[in-house]
Amino acid sequence: MAAAASIFAALTADFREDADSRKVNLGVGAYRTDEGQPWVLPVVRKVEQMIAGDGKLNHEYLPILGLPEFRANASRIALGDDSPAIKENRIGSVQSLGGTGALRIGAEFLRRWYNGTNNTATPVYVSSPTWENHNSVFLDAGFKDIRTYHYWDAAKRGLDLQGLLDDMEKAPEFSIFILHACAHNPTGTDPTPDQWKQIAAVMKRRFLFPFFDSAYQGFASGSLDKDAWAVRYFVSEGFELFCAQSFSKNFGLYNERVGNLTVVGKDADNVQRVLSQMEKIVRTTWSNPPSQGARIVATTLTSPQLFAEWKDNVKTMADRVLLMRSELRSRLESLGTPGTWNHITDQIGMFSFTGLNPKQVEYMIKEKHIYLMASGRINMCGLTTKNLDYVAKSIHEAVTKIQ
Ligand SMILES: Cc1ncc(COP(=O)(O)O)c(C=O)c1O
Repeated sequence: MAAAASIFAALTADFREDADSRKVNLGVGAYRTDEGQPWVLPVVRKVEQMIAGDGKLNHEYLPILGLPEFRANASRIALGDDSPAIKENRIGSVQSLGGTGALRIGAEFLRRWYNGTNNTATPVYVSSPTWENHNSVFLDAGFKDIRTYHYWDAAKRGLDLQGLLDDMEKAPEFSIFILHACAHNPTGTDPTPDQWKQIAAVMKRRFLFPFFDSAYQGFASGSLDKDAWAVRYFVSEGFELFCAQSFSKNFGLYNERVGNLTVVGKDADNVQRVLSQMEKIVRTTWSNPPSQGARIVATTLTSPQLFAEWKDNVKTMADRVLLMRSELRSRLESLGTPGTWNHITDQIGMFSFTGLNPKQVEYMIKEKHIYLMASGRINMCGLTTKNLDYVAKSIHEAVTKIQ
């Protein structure tokens, strides 16, 4: 895992130092505009000004579990306005430092209280491959048995559903499964609703615990509701679950560290007990959460007009990603680049597994000054209308020259 982080740092440093004017960074982990710049969402700018001008606000501590209107509304957009769990008052939330913080608080709680007390032997399953921090967060929370489940089928460049279901069938009962709610990082490949139904059926029968990681809601399809389908389906099926939300990507609030952990339980009493334990964990972890990001999100989500503006901003980002996908695919197809390229448009979200092998990646970096992960993962936002032709031609060269 440390290796993955240092490779990423090395890639970024190499890109920065590269003096070639054609250089392209497809390894970056954040959204970029068509000018290759970070984007402050217009709705965020507006709300920041409202907050700055609000003389009633101060810098007193927030409650340990966070800003109440942030927590409630963040969970509402994950679970949906008419969620049965919200109506039945059996959900709770913890404001967290980004999606990572939500994962960490959830992991810490599970290690302390799930499947016995301090049961560090409960297996935790992460997809193969996954966002590298999943492993480390659960290891650091004390879990000793981190396993992978089949996910990516390299040959077919798609989901290995059978492998995934087989792993779930074989997993010990009560194992924890980390599931990407949408826009799987790094493969950009999500199960279809029908496949999610199959996954849920096995998980229910085998008493497996779903821990959703929702870091890209709205980014995958441009629709908040569509991207939350899997989480909502599991809730409708009666699962108790956790859902870690990040507002880093869909609000562009990366450095404000704003996330939320939603707990869905069987009844209100259980949820309150879970929250009181989580409060203890937060107290010794960051004690109190920061307010700025939570205020921005809460203000936006509670105003119908700002909410509409935000959805529009999210759609702008999602649409740009979709456009870059179709433009890249059509260029590769018209160049006659060997292989099939439908996976570029089949995959969703910011990231794509191109299928380039490590030697081809090396060629792209050394000869073409196009930086991407050794796994062949690219960030679609690294593409712009200005560099698309160059990137497509370079991929074509890499694939035809290097096997
Ligand atoms: C799958 C996944 N989960 C969680 C996160 C964490 O996001 P945050 O920066 O909000 O902690 C990321 C960020 O890249 C991610 O890709």
